[in-house]
Parts: sequence; structure tokens; C-alpha cells
Amino acid sequence: MRIIILGPPGVGKGTQSALIAKKLSLKHLSTGEILRRAVFEGTELGKKAKAIMDAGELVSDSIMIGIIRDCLQSKEINQGFILDGFPRTTTQAEDLDKLFDELKIDDIKILCLNADKDELIKRMSGRGRRDDNIETISNRLNIYKEQTLPVKEYYRKSKKVYEIVGLGDIDIINDNIFKLLTLKDEHNVNA
Ligand code: AP5
Ligand code: MG
Repeated sequence: MRIIILGPPGVGKGTQSALIAKKLSLKHLSTGEILRRAVFEGTELGKKAKAIMDAGELVSDSIMIGIIRDCLQSKEINQGFILDGFPRTTTQAEDLDKLFDELKIDDIKILCLNADKDELIKRMSGRGRRDDNIETISNRLNIYKEQTLPVKEYYRKSKKVYEIVGLGDIDIINDNIFKLLTLKDEHNVNA
């Protein structure tokens, strides 16, 4: 199975992706984790990304699509994948569609997790990551609204977007995701 999980910062994309990846033996591709590892290891990518991430801004589209291209070309994704944190701009979504065409990848499920702003701020404030201070959180939320919400509209034009309430018990949210993922798509008998 191939899944893209969208949603605002702190909504639980990483938490739910890890559970889904484990249950379905999918590769969990988190661009945030890839970048944090690069910063930790002090690689060229990490040096470029550090200040941008600390400010809650977005790393450039060209760098990000390059990272995803490498991931999707690797043999590790043979069993399928869940993309967490990418695409984050409509340019990334368009480039990803081109890459999927090139690699003959289709049948992508789009999930969108949602929670209200107060809950997101509460969750991130209690976590302690470098970009979890109030100024950066507020910038990440604004950037989500301006640059990433349009990605959902982009997908709505060609695909079904499964909306999931991201509030409440983590396992119940996960059960709800599995219920949606196993629904038959009425337009595709093979889905
Ligand atoms: P990224 O790491 O993707 O950060 P994010 O989207 O801001 O989201 P988070 O990882 O903070 O939250 P999450 O939705 O994964 O929630 P989580 O499961 O952790 O990106 C970081 C930065 O990297 C970006 O700001 C940008 O600079 C750069 N970047 C990454 N991708 C990029 C791209 N494609 N293009 C450009 N730049 C990019 O949960 C949050 C907390 O809530 C946790 O403590 C968790 O335990 C808790 N929690 C989870 N579920 C629940 C629940 N149901 N109830 C209560 N608590 C819960
Ligand atoms: Mg995350």
C-alpha cells in the first residue's frame, strides 16, 4: 500500500504513520526525521536545513524532491510506503506526481489528520523538540495554512482525501484510519 499522510504540525502524523507502517510492513518516510538526522549528523543537508527548521520555515522544494526521489528509488520501499511530511507545497505535490509517473507508482491513498489549533499547540509545547518553542510553533502553523493546506485541495481535484479526526485516544484514531483504508473505492474495483 502507498499512503500520503497530511495534517498540521503536531497532529500526530508521525505517531500514526509509525503504527500504520508497523502493521502493514510499510517503509515510514518522514521528511522531518530525515532532516533532523542530517542536522544531528552535521551533513551538508543538515547544515543547510538547521536554521530553516529552527525558524519553522520550509526547506526548498528542489532539495526536498531530491530527497524523496532517492527514497522512492530505493529497494526498501518495495512493500509500500507511508509519506509523512511530504508534500508540503503544491510544487512538491506536482513534482511528486511526475515522479510517481516516472516510477510507475499509482494507487496512492491520501489521509488527512485534523485537530484544533489549541490542541496542536498543547501537544507541541509538551514535547521539547528544538522547533517546539511558541514562536516557531506559530510560524509552522501559519506556513501550514498558507502553503500546505492548498496541497489538500490539489489532491481533492483528482483523488479521494480521507479525513480523520486526530483527537482522542491514539489507538482509536488508528482503528479509524484502518477502517477507512480498507473501504472499497467505488470507482475502482481493485482498490
Ligand atoms: P516535521 O517533522 O514534518 O514536523 P511537523 O509537520 O511540524 O509535524 P510534527 O512532526 O511536529 O508533528 P506530527 O504531526 O508528526 O505529530 P507527532 O506524531 O509528532 O517537519 C519539521 C520541519 O522540517 C519543518 O518545519 C520544515 O522546516 C522541515 N520539513 C519537513 N518536511 C519538509 C518538506 N516536505 N518541505 C520543506 N520543509 C520540510 O505528535 C505530536 C505530539 O503529540 C507528540 O508528543 C505525540 O506523542 C503527541 N500525540 C500524538 N497523537 C496524540 C493524541 N491522539 N493525543 C494526544 N497526544 C498525541
Ligand atoms: Mg512528525
